[in-house]
Formats: sequence, structure tokens, C-alpha cells
Amino acid sequence: PKEQSLAGRRVLVTSGPTHEPIDPVRVLANRSSGRQGHAIAQAAADAGAEVVLVSGPVSIPDPCGVRVVHVETAREMLAAVESAPPSDVAVFAAAVADWRVAEESASKVKKGPAGPPALTLVENPDILATIAQRRIGRPTLVVGFAAETNDVIANAQAKLARKGCDLIVANDVSPATGIMGGASNSVHLVSVSGVETWPSMAKDEVAGRLIDRIASLLGKNQ
Ligand code: C5P
Repeated sequence: PKEQSLAGRRVLVTSGPTHEPIDPVRVLANRSSGRQGHAIAQAAADAGAEVVLVSGPVSIPDPCGVRVVHVETAREMLAAVESAPPSDVAVFAAAVADWRVAEESASKVKKGPAGPPALTLVENPDILATIAQRRIGRPTLVVGFAAETNDVIANAQAKLARKGCDLIVANDVSPATGIMGGASNSVHLVSVSGVETWPSMAKDEVAGRLIDRIASLLGKNQ
């Protein structure tokens, strides 16, 4: 049996994309598969934690031994995160849509002589920043992800400060890397104490090593 490094701990994980409706049949979406976030939820459960996973629409199975809350939109994801029990650790691996359509059409938008519709976008709530900046009930450790196609580390350092989280897992999601949707990942761990670059490895392995790191950081916090 694996070491139960997170026994008695509560861990919240977000994973997958969000879908933002345009009308009853169309959505704005992104290419996140949920594989990395789900692997983290599984690794946390395997390490003995009580895990709540808030997942956007994905086509992969629910992890075992995890309470899964399925949501569609960013606003639903925020509501699910806010109503989850307080946690020691929160890992925000979801690829939350930055924008949603200002007004969802109640009926299917039709083609017509007026030409294509103009979509007005409004900003979604930032779930990670909301939780990281909580005064009451903030998890001891708040971990964010940064999917970037350029200036990966500099962007992650800026994000760490702006959002107020403790750790950013930064990855290069340029199409050539095959990371988005793929089985492996190559990440940099960015915190106030510096940058650590991990070699490319399976997403399950990234998850396991991240959980080990989280357990040791939590230990130091006691
Ligand atoms: O800068 P960006 O918003 O892409 O930062 C990504 C990090 O923030 C990820 O951890 C992601 O899960 C989280 N995030 C969020 N809510 C948003 C946007 C991003 O929780 N609306």
C-alpha cells in the first residue's frame, strides 16, 4: 500500500474545461481533457485524503474514491467550489473559460439575411483568485495552474502574485508539445522560493509527485 501522506486531509480539485452556452445547442469551450486534474484528484485520494473534485464536461471516467461534482459553466464551478466543505488544500487545474457570452439565447440562433450574430463576451469570475484571497476559510495551500504558450515562467510568476496562491504549476501548452489532451506533461513549479523544472513525465506521475510535494509543504505548515 502507498504511504498515506494525506490521511485526514481534505483536498479540493477543479478539473476540465468549462462550457459557456451561446444558445441551447452551442457553447464556447476549450481543449482541456481534464486528465491532469483528474490524476491529481486520484493521487490525493490514493494518499488518503478526502477529495472533492469539481469537474467541467470531460469524457474521462470519475476517479475512484473521490466525491465528484459535475458542472458546465464557470459560474457553476465557482458555486460548487464555494459550497464544498473547507479544505486544507485546493488545486485549481481546471481550464476555466475567461469569458462567457453576455446573454445566452433562450432559443437556437438562426442563420438569416442579417448575417452572423455578434457575440458580446463578459468576464467570468476567477475561481482561483476568489479562494486564494479569502480572509476566512482559505485553504492552507492554494495551487494554481498556468497554461501558457510563451514566456511560461515569467507569466507564472506574475500569476502567483496577482492571484495570491502559494504555488503555480506552469506548463507550455503550445500545440507542438502535445500536452493539451495528451498523456504526458512537462511542468515548472513556481513559488516565492523559486522555480523548479521537472522533466517530461506521465500526467499520473506529475500528479503523484505534486501530491508528495503538497504533503511535505503541509507538514512544514503545522
Ligand atoms: O491566468 P489564468 O486565469 O489562465 O490562470 C490559470 C489558473 O487560474 C488555473 O489554476 C485556473 O484553474 C484558474 N482559473 C480559475 N478561474 C478562472 C480562470 C482561471 O480558477 N476564471
